[in-house]
Amino acid sequence: MSTKTTSLDIQSLSQKLINPSTSFNEAKDILNTLYNHFDTLIALSSYQNDIRYLAAVPTASGMALSLQHAAACFLDYQRTTLFLRGFVQAIKDKQQEYPNQPIHVFYAGCGPLAPFISLVAPLFSNKDIRFTVLEINTHSLAIAKKLLNVLALDDYVDTYYEADAVTFKIPKPEKFHILFSETLDALLYRESYVPILQNMQPQFSSGITVIPENVTIHLSLHTHDHQEVYQGIVMDTQQNITTITSNTTLPKTLPPHNVTIEDSSLYKGMLLDTIVHIYNDYHLTRGISSLTIPYEMLFDSTSVFKTLQFTYQLSPQVELKCSFN
Ligand SMILES: C[S@@+](CC[C@H](N)C(=O)[O-])C[C@H]1O[C@@H](n2cnc3c(N)ncnc32)[C@H](O)[C@@H]1O
Repeated sequence: MSTKTTSLDIQSLSQKLINPSTSFNEAKDILNTLYNHFDTLIALSSYQNDIRYLAAVPTASGMALSLQHAAACFLDYQRTTLFLRGFVQAIKDKQQEYPNQPIHVFYAGCGPLAPFISLVAPLFSNKDIRFTVLEINTHSLAIAKKLLNVLALDDYVDTYYEADAVTFKIPKPEKFHILFSETLDALLYRESYVPILQNMQPQFSSGITVIPENVTIHLSLHTHDHQEVYQGIVMDTQQNITTITSNTTLPKTLPPHNVTIEDSSLYKGMLLDTIVHIYNDYHLTRGISSLTIPYEMLFDSTSVFKTLQFTYQLSPQVELKCSFN
């Protein structure tokens, strides 16, 4: 496959990516081609091996990825493909709901390749879709602006903000139809998806579509004879953020979730799965993306416990904590 890609080629490659009959192997080739092309346009590889572009940036609650790590997300093939399919479907659904008006997207955390503009805008006219972009990492934002300019896509963008999505007050929030924020890691560790939603979601009109619409963490127990026994959801982002009543201060933790264990001696360990609910039927499930790598933990064979308590901590770092009682 050619690595020389005009903006017209990006449109047809994006169309292939969103086509459900395109296999994930084909999608992988297309994403590699696009990444190499973007690399040529903005000399992404020249930012390697420099600590400024490898260092994460602290936010008011959590950390934001470095330029290099955010760029690498593009090559999380199933993530990028399924997010693209879900996002384009969400835009089309909004177009049905709001005919003859532009769909306004607030893109919180674009990274250096702003893939959910660079791959999405060529599929629509700039009269039909408008983006507002926010990014905390100054280097990533500068590169994203450069890339969109080189691709002649910057006329799809109304405003760029360099700011923290955890605390940002959105001007004219009522005009937006979609909030897009892929600011998460497996187990909702380190990145700010939960406090970003807590801050931003209530600012928009109630009909806002959020992508990903939810992230849940699921518990299974492993028996000594290698059976996996599903126990249910221990963290449901959308359900949990409704428990935060103050819109100015974040609590240190979200309410804990307890799981009763009748006989802990039956189990040798536990497994936590992150499920990313992108939009409608588009999900990232176990192991298909770096965001859904399962976390396995063996229990101390001498300890006896009746309850596993899961608490999502927002301060000093975002992290799911587990205690045994
Ligand atoms: C996982 S990367 C994804 C980049 C790109 N949207 C993509 O999907 O490939 C998340 C991006 O969000 C930015 N980010 C994380 N937390 C943020 C925050 N609190 N405010 C603004 N940007 C944030 C990071 O700097 C990073 O560029």
